[in-house]
Amino acid sequence: MTRKNDEKRKFYMAKKGQRTKKKTNSKKTNYSNRLENENLGNEKNYNVVKSVPDIKLVEKDILQYIVGQDTQVKQIITAIYRAIHFKSIKANVLIIGNSGTGKTATIKQLAKSLNIPYTIEDATKYTKEGYYGADVEEMIYNLIDNANNNIKRAQNGIIVIDEIDKKAGHAEHDVSGTEVLKSLLKIIEGTKIKIPNMMDIFSEEAIDFDTSNLIIIFLGAFDGLEKIRQKRLNKNQLGFATSSNDTSSKKSRFLKKDLVEYGMPEEFVGRIDTIIEMNKLSKKDLINILKRSKLSPFRKYQNELSQKGIKLEYNMQLFEKIAEESLSLDTGARELSNTVNYIFENIVYEVIANPRKYRTCKLNLDIIEDNTKFELF
Ligand SMILES: Nc1ncnc2c1ncn2[C@@H]1O[C@H](COP(=O)(O)OP(=O)(O)OP(=O)(O)O)[C@@H](O)[C@H]1O
Ligand SMILES: [Mg+2]
Repeated sequence: MTRKNDEKRKFYMAKKGQRTKKKTNSKKTNYSNRLENENLGNEKNYNVVKSVPDIKLVEKDILQYIVGQDTQVKQIITAIYRAIHFKSIKANVLIIGNSGTGKTATIKQLAKSLNIPYTIEDATKYTKEGYYGADVEEMIYNLIDNANNNIKRAQNGIIVIDEIDKKAGHAEHDVSGTEVLKSLLKIIEGTKIKIPNMMDIFSEEAIDFDTSNLIIIFLGAFDGLEKIRQKRLNKNQLGFATSSNDTSSKKSRFLKKDLVEYGMPEEFVGRIDTIIEMNKLSKKDLINILKRSKLSPFRKYQNELSQKGIKLEYNMQLFEKIAEESLSLDTGARELSNTVNYIFENIVYEVIANPRKYRTCKLNLDIIEDNTKFELF
């Protein structure tokens, strides 16, 4: 075994120790839990098609969390199921969307619902040869770890690479980033990668990790890509670039050449099979997140208070005000939880300081500006 592999193995063993504790607390949906149990002891004949739940069931489940992205949720689920059921078709997916529109949240929720090991990696953490940051192969180790060391399951797993746009080779971005994208190609390509044998730390022999069935999902906000698309559309329409604000053809998909112009290396872009564009969230979407999403920070407070025997009273207009405030910041649904945390700050203090004292909490509409505007009785 080479010295490099030996170091990697040590690194991996150290990481493994750290993670085992964390994972025992992970929440799982009932059916993924059930499926996990059914798969125990089934490592040799692991059949990924059998182990994934019904596609419609999963879609319904995800839509309880993710709001305003129904088409996109369906596209993402289809891309993943296509990879599982249509093995010969490679599934490298790119999801483009503004901050706080649900890119990471959708994938996380989906990976939880499916009984598929996954790892979410931040592209900015990785550097060319692993000199300053992590080595691209570390993604594989993380995935194997999340698959409880079952190599077969890991080979059918999902690698999510977040913030991929930050690796574009524009002058204003990290220039060495394009090198990282190129080193990612060996994973995307579907080749075999030699990795140290993690099951047997005394083994000198490296083992093959087949990447051909991996599902790779790239996420990125791609600020400025919209301008590139608009420029292209205007050019196509009139034969030359104009500053026309005509948005009639705005629905055109992002093309690979837009990504190349943005600074993504051609070799990389050429290997993307599906591009999915998230919607911008409207005020109505934000209100719906607050009202009915299982991720709603408001609902979480409401449930916690209810468990302490306190009923929350409020006017529905409050949701509008919270949504309007978030909308002004352009960080999608991200801001909702900040605003909601602010609203409940003093209430949380009061309730903790006076256990079992209150039965009702009434929120005034102006609590959004001044979080002392509530009544507890
Ligand atoms: N469509 C949505 N439906 C419900 N909740 C959402 C939605 N989008 C975002 N959220 C909420 O906002 C939080 C942040 O969203 P998420 O992490 O998915 O953002 P992102 O699209 O990955 O953006 P970024 O580019 O900033 O990482 C989530 O944890 C979730 O609670
Ligand atoms: Mg994200």
